[in-house]
Amino acid sequence: MQPFRPHAALRRCAARAGIARVVAAMEDPNPSVSGRGLQRLRDAGIDVRCGLLEKEARDLNIGFVSRMTRGLPWVRVKVAASMDGGTALHDGTSQWITGQAARDDGHAWRARACAILTGIGTVRDDNPQMTVRAIPTPRQPQRVLVDSRLEVSLDAHILTPDSGDFAKPVLVFCAVDDRERRHALEARGAEVVVLPNPHGKVELRQMLAELGRRGINELHVEAGFKLNGSLIREHCADELLVYLAPKLLGDAQGMFNLPPLSRLQDAATFRWHDVRQIGEDLRLIARRNDA
Ligand SMILES: NC(=O)c1ccc[n+]([C@@H]2O[C@H](COP(=O)([O-])OP(=O)(O)OC[C@H]3O[C@@H](n4cnc5c(N)ncnc54)[C@H](OP(=O)(O)O)[C@@H]3O)[C@@H](O)[C@H]2O)c1
Repeated sequence: MQPFRPHAALRRCAARAGIARVVAAMEDPNPSVSGRGLQRLRDAGIDVRCGLLEKEARDLNIGFVSRMTRGLPWVRVKVAASMDGGTALHDGTSQWITGQAARDDGHAWRARACAILTGIGTVRDDNPQMTVRAIPTPRQPQRVLVDSRLEVSLDAHILTPDSGDFAKPVLVFCAVDDRERRHALEARGAEVVVLPNPHGKVELRQMLAELGRRGINELHVEAGFKLNGSLIREHCADELLVYLAPKLLGDAQGMFNLPPLSRLQDAATFRWHDVRQIGEDLRLIARRNDA
């Protein structure tokens, strides 16, 4: 019997299919395959070019690249705010600051994410479902709640199963294992992930690593100013997706709960990635400087 020679087999296959040249946008960032497929094609005598529209391809696969290279999802924090940075009145009212077009656009970003994350404060004040509804979607993203002490009401909308065929349990991350609460939430269909922490708060980096292990590429955050602030402070936010309405809310809750600075140099800085108008609002996308 003839020994199996993969290069020769590949060359014969390519010749039969009439393939002389392969143009790829980027190498697969998965370290277990990275570059080897393209090399096999080259070894089989096929003309391989890599890098056409690479920037666009990386953008399209930003979450996958992030997970393959860092083990962490790409974290996009979405905020709807007034021109003076207000995201909610002090009584918790925030619906709606931006217009319908911006809200629909926000649902398109939810839909492309693998998971949507929110905080217990938002669930308490707004009781959101955190599903994609404004646009058609082939699947609902995984819903994730940061609830350090398992305080979520068992009637909260976020605990209701999504209507898709492959309904996924809501993931609730906590820092204190209250067995009774955990069992009650599990009976409501949630999956509780305990990340014990002596400070009594979910360690956000650890949570992101766990989401990465579960295959979450893009994480879409829609939370209030406390959790948003923690994500910035702990260097967990890769991208800010900010909708600005041409309104002034005055003394209201801001976008990020951050401590006062004594030096301007210590400001968290980003770079603009995209700026455009959506309906009557502005949409600003900023990315961390090294992304
Ligand atoms: N305009 C918008 O885009 C928008 C979007 C969503 C929500 N909102 C508004 O935001 C308001 C709610 O704001 P919020 O700040 O209370 O809600 P939140 O940020 O969604 O949740 C706050 C909770 O997150 C927890 N948290 C913060 N950092 C944490 C960390 N490192 N680890 C674990 N837990 C952490 C806090 O826990 P501790 O209590 O233990 O500190 C706090 O209870 C509502 O009025 C809602 O309408 C506005």
